[in-house]
Amino acid sequence: MFGMIKTWKALQAKGIMGINRRNADYVLKYNKRHLYPIVDDKIITKERAILAGIHVPEMYGIIETEKQIDKLPQIIGDRPDFVIKPAQGAGGDGILVIADRFEDRYRTVSGKIVSHEELEHQISSILTGLYSLGGHRDRALIEYRVTPDQIFKSISYEGVPDIRIIVLMGYPVMAMLRLPTRQSGGKANLHQGAIGVGVDMATGVTLRGTWLNNKISKHPDTTNAVDGVQLPNWDGFMKLAAGCYELCGLGYIGVDMVLDQEKGPLILELNARPGLNIQIANDCGLTHRAHAVEARIAELTAQGVVETPEERVKFAQSLFGNVRKAEI
Ligand SMILES: Nc1ncnc2c1ncn2[C@@H]1O[C@H](COP(=O)(O)OP(=O)(O)O)[C@@H](O)[C@H]1O
Ligand SMILES: [Mg+2]
Repeated sequence: MFGMIKTWKALQAKGIMGINRRNADYVLKYNKRHLYPIVDDKIITKERAILAGIHVPEMYGIIETEKQIDKLPQIIGDRPDFVIKPAQGAGGDGILVIADRFEDRYRTVSGKIVSHEELEHQISSILTGLYSLGGHRDRALIEYRVTPDQIFKSISYEGVPDIRIIVLMGYPVMAMLRLPTRQSGGKANLHQGAIGVGVDMATGVTLRGTWLNNKISKHPDTTNAVDGVQLPNWDGFMKLAAGCYELCGLGYIGVDMVLDQEKGPLILELNARPGLNIQIANDCGLTHRAHAVEARIAELTAQGVVETPEERVKFAQSLFGNVRKAEI
């Protein structure tokens, strides 16, 4: 009991944000309800991003009704790899990442062989709302399969790692690299068993990680160190994330990005209720950083100034970096 109180006090001192505070002071305060569909539906997010000139995995097709499931072979064409996902899914549920074809069957990224009927069945489940928020009817989206940049080979196991940046009113406040594991089946969602690794905001160098709520410094499948890795094009990722405020208008979001071998940085999705585990991965709370951004905005608003995404990134990097650039 005393131990628990001590742990909680230590976490509070680091400014760890709890779920109630996140909801009351950030999600409800900064995210206008009528804007939710832009981030809660991945098809709408994609359409918005394309309009704003932001790169996303190409959409091959949308299936909205049972009848349209017949269109699947036409949508896939002779592409060997593609992804099927629920437009309103979350947490990696219902996503099928096909890496290859095998005679008239398909092989998922984790090596499972599935038949065409199984693909159709999966789409049918998506349409009935099995994976959608609130169980509403949903649409299935078929898109380009991302192949991660080579840089991730040594620290990742199958699948696609993604980079999550929390953005408050257009200011990046905290970043995390999420690495799929054998357990997470190629998905980078923490509750599926992926690893969360903190990232230094100033430099894009990885810090230590968290896996199933334990602190780790090595990938459990590859045993390679997850810290000290320089993520490529870091300032580019920061700018991409900061610019998502203009794209969706929501003030408190988690921006999920990937680095494709051929297409470079892409936005995978935006979250209006980003998880709080990013604090454990970074061994740092969100509260102080969020307050610093709020103070910055109050100060600039009084002067009638609005910062550009580049200026907001600069501010975040000067204040929230773990290591100064010169020290590395
Ligand atoms: N186009 C894709 N190519 C390869 N892997 C993908 C693709 N889309 C999603 N994934 C994998 O599935 C995970 C979850 O996908 P995401 O679109 O973020 O949906 P969710 O809302 O369920 O988290 C990603 O982190 C990634 O690992
Ligand atoms: Mg996601």
